[in-house]
Amino acid sequence: MPKIALITGATAGIGEACARLFAAQNYNLILTGRRTERLECLSSELRSTHHVQIQILTLDVRSKTEVEAQLSSLPEEWKAVDVLINNAGLSQGLDPIHEGNTDDWDTMIDTNVKGLLYVTRVVSPWMVKRKHGHIVNLGSIAGKETYANGNVYCATKHAVDSLNKGMRIDLLPYGIKVTAVHPGAVETEFSEVRFKGDTGRAKKVYEGFDPLVAEDIANTIWYVVSTPPHVNINELVVMPVAQAGAYYWHKEN
Ligand SMILES: NC(=O)c1ccc[n+]([C@@H]2O[C@H](COP(=O)([O-])OP(=O)(O)OC[C@H]3O[C@@H](n4cnc5c(N)ncnc54)[C@H](OP(=O)(O)O)[C@@H]3O)[C@@H](O)[C@H]2O)c1
Repeated sequence: MPKIALITGATAGIGEACARLFAAQNYNLILTGRRTERLECLSSELRSTHHVQIQILTLDVRSKTEVEAQLSSLPEEWKAVDVLINNAGLSQGLDPIHEGNTDDWDTMIDTNVKGLLYVTRVVSPWMVKRKHGHIVNLGSIAGKETYANGNVYCATKHAVDSLNKGMRIDLLPYGIKVTAVHPGAVETEFSEVRFKGDTGRAKKVYEGFDPLVAEDIANTIWYVVSTPPHVNINELVVMPVAQAGAYYWHKEN
């Protein structure tokens, strides 16, 4: 029986790379995101390349009702989720606290913290019932360090770090694995979203060094998921060689 992975935010970046890698490893997939067309294109490509089964769910993780309704509507056999990758997330803006846009704050808190919780609240009981499963939470170096103007984004990723630890403890009696993967700079749509479509500013973030690419993080996630049944990797911080921390870079400029 092929295993099932549920990936949030599969329309771009790390989530999309995970979808490709898990399909290549013969997983059936539940792919979610807000951009239906991208979900449709990706799923038809992966179905024909890898002959896997795929369910797509267009949903905004910020909507509790949408998350609950869409996930609950899955056929019963699809609720046997082996791996949940809580990946959907974003940063918006990079402003000092006294100039921050409060709508951006709401978006980040609602997506990165509350969205991750809504999805987990629906899927984790399925795992508890089967005493089986693995939850992988996408944190960030921003959840390990706080950098200037990153205030609220960093706070949301510190929350993910803490929730990862809480899930690990609460799900311990059920043999459910819980892992946080904390990347440094990964070149995806992330900076474009942070700078609200300013591609010039987004590109500058990755100049002068080799950033991680989405596939690097997908490979890391595959590594943590494929450990033997008695092994759990609690967390991993994964950086480009040219980045030692939030403030330490080696750039050729
Ligand atoms: N790139 C980096 O440098 C970096 C570093 C550390 C951690 N991370 C974390 O890695 C994760 C993935 O980021 P990425 O770099 O792959 O960024 P990305 O290319 O911008 O992809 C983000 C994904 O999240 C989805 N998403 C955003 N808001 C959503 C919402 N409200 N409801 C449902 N889906 C939503 C997007 O899908 P739709 O727009 O279609 O909904 C998209 O599929 C995030 O949690 C991010 O914080 C990224």
